[in-house]
Amino acid sequence: YTDLKSFPEHFLWGASTSAYQFEGASNEEGKGPSVIDMGNHPEGVTDFSVTSNHYYMYKEDVAMMAKMGLKAYRFSIAWSRIYPEGTGEANPKGLAFYNNLINELLKHGIEPIVTMYHFDLPYALELKDGWRNRQTIDAFERYAKTLFEHYGDRVKYWLTINEQNMMILHPGSLGTLDETVENPKKSLYQENHHMLVAQAKVMDLCHRLLPDAKIGPAPNIGTIYPASSKPEDVLAADTYAAIRNWLYLDMAVFGKYNNVAWSYLVENGYEPVIEEGDMEVLAKGKPDFIAFNYYTSQTVGESLNDGNDISHTGDQHELVGEPGAYRGSVNPGLQKTEFGWEIDPVGFRTTLRQIYSRYNLPLIVTENGLGAFDKLEPDGTVDDSYRIEFYKKHIEQIQLAVSDGVDVFGFCPWSAIDLVSTHQGSSKRYGFVYVNREEFDLKDLRRIPKKSFYWYQKLIETNGAVL
Ligand code: BG6
Repeated sequence: YTDLKSFPEHFLWGASTSAYQFEGASNEEGKGPSVIDMGNHPEGVTDFSVTSNHYYMYKEDVAMMAKMGLKAYRFSIAWSRIYPEGTGEANPKGLAFYNNLINELLKHGIEPIVTMYHFDLPYALELKDGWRNRQTIDAFERYAKTLFEHYGDRVKYWLTINEQNMMILHPGSLGTLDETVENPKKSLYQENHHMLVAQAKVMDLCHRLLPDAKIGPAPNIGTIYPASSKPEDVLAADTYAAIRNWLYLDMAVFGKYNNVAWSYLVENGYEPVIEEGDMEVLAKGKPDFIAFNYYTSQTVGESLNDGNDISHTGDQHELVGEPGAYRGSVNPGLQKTEFGWEIDPVGFRTTLRQIYSRYNLPLIVTENGLGAFDKLEPDGTVDDSYRIEFYKKHIEQIQLAVSDGVDVFGFCPWSAIDLVSTHQGSSKRYGFVYVNREEFDLKDLRRIPKKSFYWYQKLIETNGAVL
């Protein structure tokens, strides 16, 4: 590249976590249960009751983030810590916890980036049919209002819903699927519609209450490759992209279902009921930026309708395929992580370019990272050189995308400190900081910077110049 641009000044070099994966104290201090707390954990995998104990160790954790040099920290607020019943009476201890956390971050010059809802719907709402019930839209709006009122004087960046597309596309693993209803997929797309309306309302509310704040959605977006250059495969990839990626962002930005996704919904009998006024709400609530999580690309081909259309693609826990529309496939050219996820840095640049070209809004990456079995050596160090290699290759691609003219203002990889993975327990680690615990033995939960911690510290110091 002959004209490589530097990272913009004030680029938000950050890192991410989510409440249920990091805080612990899941049943303490007035917090109500969430769908995650009530869900079943795969065999051999820890639950989410203690995780990294951040609720009690947040000061130490923030000091560690400050030492790393983070400019931003993206975390989520547990809805049921604020409203144990999802709505109704707020929990003063929950309000105080996030208040203290935000103050602690600001004291260290770290910009808080708040996700309002990261998979952990209050269980009390789930008992009333969760997102199938339109009242959940009101509950979310009320919760958001509370957050804006309590923290809006200090929090400038808000994210509405984490990976809504994964909740809809992989409901089995995220507890959003109700098998008891007649047409579960139709019901899912109804939930999806309600979440989109709730998101639009909250984006609009944010602009009315906090004119200086910025808000955006945070789906998981990855470029989609056709399994070959065969026209039918290319068409299938285009269909999948419309359903997996663009549906969510088109709704957030344009307030409209894209035609390919909508005809897919209609053809399969999944189309949601749109009530009067919904489209006006959707048209009114606009994001200021787009946040997205990128782990890998996906590859799909033409559906062969032979019973084998649904299979794993780039990310091993994602079962992809829709008979009649597209078939999940693998990308033979890509290496995989220890957990079978395809590693695709160039696909990251393509993804950044595609999102920016379609929406022309500033972008922030709110997750990207490598899950691995890190090992604490007897001398107290953790050599995660493979993670450094992973980040080097991905950050290089952000710089190339910036040079392509894409407006990227931050990078918050997953995760700041070790936490419990969503699907594969605590031995699948992502952090720059090791947490001394094992799957079922909590040990002393001590924080130990990994090799990648010092590498990221240096990278931030030079604003990305020393990769
Ligand atoms: C994203 C989620 O889907 O991927 C995180 O937003 C999650 O919550 C991350 O932890 C990695 O997935 P996993 O299953 O390896 O934890």
